[in-house]
Amino acid sequence: MSGLRVAVVGATGAVGTEMRRLLDTRGFPLDGDPLFLASERSAGKKLPWKDGEVEVQAISAEAFEGVDVALFSAGGSRSKEWAPVAAEAGAVVIDNSSAFRMDDEVPLVVSEVNPEAIANRPKGIVANPNCTTMVLMVAAKPLHAGFGLTEMVATSYQAAGGSGMSGITELLEQAAKMVDLGEDVLRSKGAEAEASVQAETFSKAIAFNVLAHCGNFTEERYTDEEWKLVNESRKILSQPALRVSPTCVRVPVVVGHAINARLTFAEPVSRDAALEVLAGAPGLVIEDGTGQDGEELAYPTPLDSAGRDEVLVGRIREDLGDRHSLNVFVVGDNLRKGAALNAIQLAELVAAE
Ligand code: A2P
Repeated sequence: MSGLRVAVVGATGAVGTEMRRLLDTRGFPLDGDPLFLASERSAGKKLPWKDGEVEVQAISAEAFEGVDVALFSAGGSRSKEWAPVAAEAGAVVIDNSSAFRMDDEVPLVVSEVNPEAIANRPKGIVANPNCTTMVLMVAAKPLHAGFGLTEMVATSYQAAGGSGMSGITELLEQAAKMVDLGEDVLRSKGAEAEASVQAETFSKAIAFNVLAHCGNFTEERYTDEEWKLVNESRKILSQPALRVSPTCVRVPVVVGHAINARLTFAEPVSRDAALEVLAGAPGLVIEDGTGQDGEELAYPTPLDSAGRDEVLVGRIREDLGDRHSLNVFVVGDNLRKGAALNAIQLAELVAAE
């Protein structure tokens, strides 16, 4: 296979940093060094690449000349403006933003779930799904194939890193400040603790807290993050009538999104039958044991997932009242499988064409 010329747009960001690492560690077939693009602010900055460095360039139309694959993770408005420019210059764009995900002419692809969809890309753009949806789909797809998914009630526990570098910085700075305030303030003077920190990326203090608010509030009192879970799941699974009841929650975790999902199927489903289906699923690892009857105690956490490629699934339980429903707890590194890794896997599919 001959190498491809690759550009990473948003190379200085949280997802862009993972993309750079993965291009190297996965041995992506490259033609020369990749291009690292970002805003004017970062132009001239040097980023590590293999044993050396590559200088960041400001994004421009000329920068895309000769590029075969452009990996975008610089925010929706940048994608709206620049993805068509890159595609026009001949690059296949793999876009991590939400800008094109629901466009009928743009496939929305999880590499283990619907890889066949990538071939049909009339705009030259392929969309990488939302990080929470992506992680959940890796576990939901094999169960859907086995038993026919009809409904999902999904509650997420999303890392601060899902909001980019600024989310991680805000969490760590607030945590340090609140630790200085002391346990007494955190225990009995919550308003004082909250007032001591500045909330910019998030709407309220994220350190030592839980926010029932990811993204922006939109229609029907749901957030845009929750609507992504609804609409993107339907598109990825080709199930336009799938019933989805989403609640997205931000938690003080650096990396790793967790989702508890109650999944309802057309067929009755047992835990054993679910385990059988999940055991062979690509990109998925089962961590599930109660610690009773000689079983190892095992369930996944965001820290377990950080830096790992696989999505982890545990707490696989039959519903207490409904033979057609299961509860599962799914965890994945939102910067890896939830974003950068899937984008690179999609680029690998393009490279193999
Ligand atoms: P820069 O570092 O130059 O601002 P994150 O999601 O972690 O916040 O990262 C956002 C990424 O998007 C960064 O690489 C950032 O580059 C890039 N970016 C932000 N604004 C622009 C812009 N106007 N043009 C190109 N890249 C941008």
